[in-house]
Amino acid sequence: MDKIRIRGGRPLQGSIQIGGAKNAALPLMTACLLTDEPLVLKNLPFLVDITTLSHLLVQHGVSVTMPGAESADEPGHVLELRAKRIVSTTAPYDLVRRMRASVLVLGPLVARIGQARVSLPGGCAIGTRPVDLHIKALEALGATIAIEKGYIHATAPKGLKGGEIVFPTVSVGATENALMAAALAEGESVIVNAAREPEIGDLARCLNSMGARIEGAGSERITVTGVPRLHGATHSVIPDRIETGTYMMAAAIAGGELELVGASYDMVAAAARALEGTGVAVERLPAGIKVSRRANRLKGIDIATAPFPGFPTDLQAQFMALMATADGDSIITETIFENRFMHVPELNRMGADINVQGASASIRGVAKLNGAPVMATDLRASVSLVLAGLAAEGETLVNRVYHLDRGYERLEAKLAACGAAIERVAGEG
Ligand code: UD1
Repeated sequence: MDKIRIRGGRPLQGSIQIGGAKNAALPLMTACLLTDEPLVLKNLPFLVDITTLSHLLVQHGVSVTMPGAESADEPGHVLELRAKRIVSTTAPYDLVRRMRASVLVLGPLVARIGQARVSLPGGCAIGTRPVDLHIKALEALGATIAIEKGYIHATAPKGLKGGEIVFPTVSVGATENALMAAALAEGESVIVNAAREPEIGDLARCLNSMGARIEGAGSERITVTGVPRLHGATHSVIPDRIETGTYMMAAAIAGGELELVGASYDMVAAAARALEGTGVAVERLPAGIKVSRRANRLKGIDIATAPFPGFPTDLQAQFMALMATADGDSIITETIFENRFMHVPELNRMGADINVQGASASIRGVAKLNGAPVMATDLRASVSLVLAGLAAEGETLVNRVYHLDRGYERLEAKLAACGAAIERVAGEG
């Protein structure tokens, strides 16, 4: 298996093109199941998760083609997805266990065909992550749900009916499933305590351009007036705010100055404020964001993760790597996922001083980290080790690179082009 080798201590200088958002792309791709006409998605990132979802969609009967190459004025990949006929309503365990987001086929399949059998995703590295809210949303729209042999079996033979969906906690995925299901339900649906992440707004915009009638996406209350059918559309995916935030933190930990081209400041405002609190300068540019660190050491500050517009859980591990090298103490509290501190022992092996108690980690900043062979069990934890490696003295070897490939396109090439000593080393297997 490939590894990433980093020799730390070099500041970053240059510009990085931010790709389309993985977490927007995945629900957008499943939206193709709602219509028999083609859905063309532009500015898609080229990532393992996108390929995994393509495989799942193909086995449902979707044809996936690449109508054009990426061009200089329109970066990113283009995919045409057409679900002319659904040939299978089953999402098998083997594909769903590889990527939780596969559960996003549930809403569209029930809405279009009146039934779906989707495997329960099972355990995952960052906690139990149940799907009860996805199920409740569909029940509120009149679907009958049975759990049989590890599968969610949802049926609505006469179609879904509009209803009120009240989420007890904010869930991005369940809001997305609810939106897609309600788009084709008969009558009006209201989603209360909806997730407000930018990816929800992007999905709603795409669905509306397919003929849906959705209002209020981006707020806590979304109203959907169901339509009998949706049609094809062309939609461009929003920039990846987690990739953006990760490179903001790369500039902060390594020092220097990075311009993040195509990034949206509003989507990363909480992370920008946190970075400014540590002494990093974050500037809004007409077509992106500029991040620079001039100070020698950053200041330790406390943060807690929260649903959007709060500090994203997907940037928690990266921010911890940064705080590990800051001047002073900090506390990072994870409020979204249990068990999302797997990066802590690895950072400590690099010389960090971090203690976890329940949902909080106390970090005593150290003057320097030391390179070491490390590995992590999830995507964001892995990238936090890459960031730590950029600041560490000596060589860091990050194992299990497949996690990084799920969410970061050409990470090592993008960082190397800005002066980092980073390379991919082919492994023996
Ligand atoms: C999405 C993102 C993920 C991010 C997360 C939180 C995608 C593909 N993934 O994941 O990168 O970390 O949002 O911003 O967009 N929950 C339940 N029952 C459910 C569903 C969720 O209890 O049915 C809980 C989860 O365990 C978690 C919390 O709700 O504690 C938030 O999870 P959710 O927003 O659903 O995350 P995902 O959509 O899976």
